[in-house]
Amino acid sequence: ISMSNSIQGVYQGSFMPLNEIRVSPLSRAYTFSDSIYEVIPYYSGKPLCLDEHIDRFKLSADFLKIDLDFSVVRKEIEQLGRSVENHTNAYVYYQISRGVDSVRSHIVKEKLIPERFGYAGEVTLSTDPIIAKLNQDNRWAHCNIKTTSLLGNVLNMNDAYSDGCNETILIRDNKIVEGGACNIFMTYENQIYTPSLEENILPGVTREFFISSLQKRNINVKQVDCPVSFLDSVSTIWFTSSTRGVQPIKSILNHGYEMDPNDALFRNAKEAFTNSIRDYFQDH
Ligand code: PDD
Repeated sequence: ISMSNSIQGVYQGSFMPLNEIRVSPLSRAYTFSDSIYEVIPYYSGKPLCLDEHIDRFKLSADFLKIDLDFSVVRKEIEQLGRSVENHTNAYVYYQISRGVDSVRSHIVKEKLIPERFGYAGEVTLSTDPIIAKLNQDNRWAHCNIKTTSLLGNVLNMNDAYSDGCNETILIRDNKIVEGGACNIFMTYENQIYTPSLEENILPGVTREFFISSLQKRNINVKQVDCPVSFLDSVSTIWFTSSTRGVQPIKSILNHGYEMDPNDALFRNAKEAFTNSIRDYFQDH
């Protein structure tokens, strides 16, 4: 039974069930993954940090030199969001490609109409600890751009999954980078660390929201290079993302790390995050 006939979608401004949307194989999203996207989390029908997601979307569009009216994008995201207002946790996926070619061509010679596609789905947020696998980060150099060109992420995440893990931890030059689809934090010597933002890390909206939740409660986060050797003595490692929230890592398949179940700093940090979400929705 297909779930997708009950999932609301939108393509080029037309709203319809997701499984009725038809796209051209000459979409540059299809031939080149010449496209960008956002995933916006919804809590009981309300978006968390929609402005921040739109801002990052605009940065991605600027990077790809795709020009379009984001007030239209925003309205469509909001309308998709209304289709999941009865769910505790949901998300809107929204993708923009450069457009549809008349024949495949790397070089864009004529002005194309950007292609807009989105849908709203349900998600289950879990704070159950998961198992991760360390992999070498073999992705391209611009992981700060939220493009759908995610082959490096996809291959590493599926490699981890085929070994029974839920996520990968990417390592480059002996430094911890991020997960396959989330940012990473850790408690080390009773301080919270996260890798500082470089071109090879996606500046997560949840990462930023989480850091400011902690700052409001006078918990400092060190944004610095995090060498792999940290893993030998960390207490807790956790991921943040729009669809995972804050999710601890129980163990690492190819490393001796085991989560410390009595890590008070992590417990406080998680509580600060939950409280900040509550506060956010009192103001929005
Ligand atoms: N992924 N790093 C990567 C590589 C990601 O793909 C994501 C999000 C994040 C966290 O970003 P944010 O907090 O803004 O969700 C970090 C989304 C959820 C996805 O691809 O489905």
